[in-house]
Amino acid sequence: MGLYGGRKLSSVRVSALRPDDTGQPSVAAAVARLGTESAFAVLARAQELERQGREIVHLEIGEPDFPTPAHVGEAAIASIRAGETHYAPAAGMAELREAAASHLTRSRGIAIEPARVLVANGAKPFILFTVLALCEPGDEVVVPDPGFPIYASAVRWAGATPVALRLREAHGFGFDLEELGAALSERTKLVILNSPNNPTGGVQAAAQLAQAARMIMQTRAWVLSDEIYAQIAYGEEVSSIATVEGMAERTVLLDGLSKAYAMTGWRCGYAAVPERLIDPLTRLIVNSTSCVPPFVQRAAIAALDGPQESVEEMVAQLRDRRDLVVDALNALPGVSCATPSGAFYAFPDVSGVPLPAESLADRLLDEAGVAVLAGSGFGPGGVGHLRISYAASRATLALGMERIGELIAGLPR
Ligand SMILES: Cc1ncc(COP(=O)(O)O)c(C=O)c1O
Repeated sequence: MGLYGGRKLSSVRVSALRPDDTGQPSVAAAVARLGTESAFAVLARAQELERQGREIVHLEIGEPDFPTPAHVGEAAIASIRAGETHYAPAAGMAELREAAASHLTRSRGIAIEPARVLVANGAKPFILFTVLALCEPGDEVVVPDPGFPIYASAVRWAGATPVALRLREAHGFGFDLEELGAALSERTKLVILNSPNNPTGGVQAAAQLAQAARMIMQTRAWVLSDEIYAQIAYGEEVSSIATVEGMAERTVLLDGLSKAYAMTGWRCGYAAVPERLIDPLTRLIVNSTSCVPPFVQRAAIAALDGPQESVEEMVAQLRDRRDLVVDALNALPGVSCATPSGAFYAFPDVSGVPLPAESLADRLLDEAGVAVLAGSGFGPGGVGHLRISYAASRATLALGMERIGELIAGLPR
C-alpha cells in the first residue's frame, strides 16, 4: 500500500498534487515574489572559488570581523552548564526584555517599558513579522531606496506594494521630505526607515526625522524604524523617529545584537513595539521559531548590561578603516565615494568607470578575487554604485583596494 492507499493515482482527488508545467509537484506562486540578499549569493560564489583554490578578499558580507566579546560567550557557556537548554518564553526572557528596555531607554532617551519589548532570532525576523502583521494586498509600504533588500521582499511576499523613497547622495544619503510626502498616500500602511543605513552609511538628521514624523502622523501609517546600526556612527548624532512625541504608539523600533556586539551568528534581535502589536508579533514568533535559545538570551543580557568598551573600540577601528577605504576609492579614476557617517559600508559611485557596476562587481570577483556587491541589489537608487563592507582588517582592506585599483586601471578607456 503506497501513499495513496493503493488507489490508482488517477483516482486521487487532491489539489495538493497540482502539477506544474514540468509535471512535478508545484511550489506556491508567492515564492516567486520573495527576493533575496545578494550578500549571501556573492558569499556563496566567493566560497566556491575558494574551494577551487582561489584566495578571495571578502568585502561583501555585512558583519564585523571582531570576535564576540569574551564575557558574552562566557555568559552563554555558564547558562548551558546551568541547564538552560529548553524552551524560553516566546516574547523573550523577562531579564532580556528588561535589559533591552533599559538599553533603548538609555540610548534613545525615551522611556521604554520591558512589556513592550519582544525578542526574536535576529533583527531580520521582525522585518518579516511586522510586514506580515500589518500588510495586505492593496497596501503600500514606503521603503528606502537604496535599502536593505529584505524590506521590499517581505512587502511583496505579503502581497503589498513597495514604494521607493530615494536616499540622495547630495543629502548625505538621507531622504527628501517632499519625496516622502509624494510617497505617502491613503494606501500607505507602513513606512520603513533605516538610519544609519545599509548600504549607504547615511544617517538621517534629527530635524528631518521630526518633520517626517509630523507628516506620517497625518496618515494611518505605522513605522518600522530599523536601527540595527545605531551604535555604529562616527560623530554624527543618530536619532530615532520613535522619540518624537506621539510616534512610539505607531513605531516598531528595531535593534539587535548582531552588529554592535559582533554577534551575527548568535541570532538575537529585539524590538520595542506599540501596545497593539505585542500580541500579533508574539503570535508570529509562536508560529515560527517559538523562542530564542535561553543561553543566547543570557549572552545578549551580558552584552547589553556588561562593559561597553568593546563597542567603543570596534567603532574607533571601523572609523579608521572607513577612512582608509574612502581615501583609496577616491584616488581611483572614475570613482567617487562620499564619507559614510555610520554603519560599516562604503557606497562608491562607480559610474565613471567604463563598465556597468554589475559587470565591475563580477569581474572584481572572477578576475581580481575581491568580493563586493553591486549597488543595484539594493534598489534602483543603487545603480552605478558598489557596496563595500569595510568591517575587515586593515591588511585585507589594503589588499582589496589595491586589487580594485589594478583592475580599474587596466580597463580600456
Ligand atoms: C539594515 C539591516 N537590518 C537588519 C539586518 C539583520 O540583522 P540580524 O543579523 O540581527 O538579523 C541587517 C543585516 O545585514 C541589516 O543590514
